[in-house]
Amino acid sequence: MELKVNKKQITSTKMIIDGHAHACGDYLIPEKIIIHLAESKVDKLVLVPGELNSEKTYSFPNVAKLLPGLNITKFFNYLTKMVISLTNAQKDFIAGNAYVYELAKALPDKVIQFYLVTNVFDSITRELDDKHLKWKFKGLKFHQCWFSISIKSKIFTETATWAIKNDLPIFIHLFSDSEVKMLIEHKINNLRSMIKYEAIGYFSTEYNTGTGAPRQGMLKPGSKGTIILNSEYKNGLKNLDQFEYIFVLFHFHEAKGWETTVNPPESGHEFGLFATRSPRRPNPIGLSLIKLDSIKDNKLFVSGIDAFDGTPVLDIKPFLPTIDSKITEKNVMAEFYLGHHDEDFINDSLVKIFIKGEKE
Ligand SMILES: C[S@@+](CC[C@H](N)C(=O)[O-])C[C@H]1O[C@@H](n2cnc3c(N)ncnc32)[C@H](O)[C@@H]1O
Repeated sequence: MELKVNKKQITSTKMIIDGHAHACGDYLIPEKIIIHLAESKVDKLVLVPGELNSEKTYSFPNVAKLLPGLNITKFFNYLTKMVISLTNAQKDFIAGNAYVYELAKALPDKVIQFYLVTNVFDSITRELDDKHLKWKFKGLKFHQCWFSISIKSKIFTETATWAIKNDLPIFIHLFSDSEVKMLIEHKINNLRSMIKYEAIGYFSTEYNTGTGAPRQGMLKPGSKGTIILNSEYKNGLKNLDQFEYIFVLFHFHEAKGWETTVNPPESGHEFGLFATRSPRRPNPIGLSLIKLDSIKDNKLFVSGIDAFDGTPVLDIKPFLPTIDSKITEKNVMAEFYLGHHDEDFINDSLVKIFIKGEKE
């Protein structure tokens, strides 16, 4: 089961995967992999963990041909599940991912690493962020006979969300017909709730993940940048220059994953995600009130920005003072104690006092 792709597919962001191998037997060490690929006339190989350090090669007879009409795959899936649980091989899968990385490092032109997802981590999103940064694997693998992870589980959804955000494929070895049905239903339900937006332009700024950006641009009026709108929308800017302030909605394209609670910088306190302006959210949308200095063709020169260079812009709207602001004592106090958007931070003890209602 090897990957057959042509060079064009590899260089494009999408690729067609025709199979995969496990890092054992013929795919255990670089020398064997080179020989096996040459013999099979295959350029590249998708590799996932196998039986750690095992030289054994498993090959199943083509029973489907001998016994047509029988669900042979299911039989082999049961067999595999039984062997894995009897040998307790699951314990090696984490080391297996690290081993596949070593093989991919040794044979960068031949081995494409896919990460085998297990359910042993507190946060799969954090684990994937961490390992992807180090290993740059090219896809994820669920193996339902080795490590059964329900399609309806939180970890499945979080992994799928992570994969979509990182534009990586997931390859699933399903266990049974009912799982295939479940996956299709899951996908249909998800598609129903999927909304697709395309950027209308992007920010050009001096900020990036290395330099950081103001926590709230409104508090840094000197932070200047440009919004470069796709030229097809140029006419949509007519009359916008009548407004001094505009709302810009944008996509936090560098944000990785999200948690339902967050600890904002400089605060030891845990906040519900939706009570914060954290860039790490299920739909990573940013909202900034920005000063519009001038417009020239499709360029908007702006001040008071907090977005990284290259941030995709989703929408622009005029700020309408009478409908877009409501100053109430409750919000003013909540912002003062919990807003944590200033560099001169409200410290955590004050936050706790506020939450407990002990404020003056
Ligand atoms: C706290 S957010 C506030 C953004 C916006 N005013 C809001 O309230 O939605 C600002 C921070 O987001 C981060 N950020 C800016 N652009 C980003 C991007 N494209 N991807 C991920 N994070 C970004 C920077 O660390 C910046 O300090």
